Amino acid sequence: MLQVSGKWCSAACVLTLCAVGVASYSAASEKATATADAATERARREVRMLDDLYKTSIVLITTHYVDDDKSLAAGSAFQALFQAMKDKGWHEVRLLDATGHPYNEKNKPAEGFEKRAIQQLLEGKTFVDEVVREGDKKFLLAATAIPVVMDKCIVCHENYRDVKKGKAIGALGYKVPILD
Ligand code: HEC
Repeated sequence: MLQVSGKWCSAACVLTLCAVGVASYSAASEKATATADAATERARREVRMLDDLYKTSIVLITTHYVDDDKSLAAGSAFQALFQAMKDKGWHEVRLLDATGHPYNEKNKPAEGFEKRAIQQLLEGKTFVDEVVREGDKKFLLAATAIPVVMDKCIVCHENYRDVKKGKAIGALGYKVPILD
């Protein structure tokens, strides 16, 4: 028997109370899941927006400012931009190689998410993501494919010449905070 608000409660009543408790608990956890899903979806949207911004800029710069292999590569200029965005605490972006022959060794995919993501991009996916926790913070790790978008890419990356059209030769790897 359980005493509720000064009255004795029967077994049936306890069951009812439990049922109400479970229902409100699951409603609360459903709401928490919905909020978490909405937060993850906002982070995905941020990645897609950044991806269009970065890739469009890289293509515009390569089209209009890169003449030959002595020109400053958009890839090099954007490493400085990526560092600035990281230093300002917005997000992290890595320019990754998917061919096994990077221009710069530091663009090799690291063990873990980067290698898993590159594998899936090589299999034909264009967007891969995973949610990770670090202490009480959550992040969306995402990778988006970079195909050979124009002949000019080959001026500096000879190894892209024989790659099938549309196949990923690299990726942008993102780490964006998930804000509930
Ligand atoms: C003017 C020479 C040049 C051109 C043109 C060029 N790149 Fe690069 N690319 C570089 C250099 C240099 C790096 C290394 C940048 C760094 O991380 O320091 C690089 C890095 C990369 C990377 C990272 C992996 C690696 O090799 O280090 C990818 C992916 C990439 N470029 C794709 C492209 C694509 C796609 C195009 C065409 C839109 C392109 N590049 C055009 C010079 C060039």
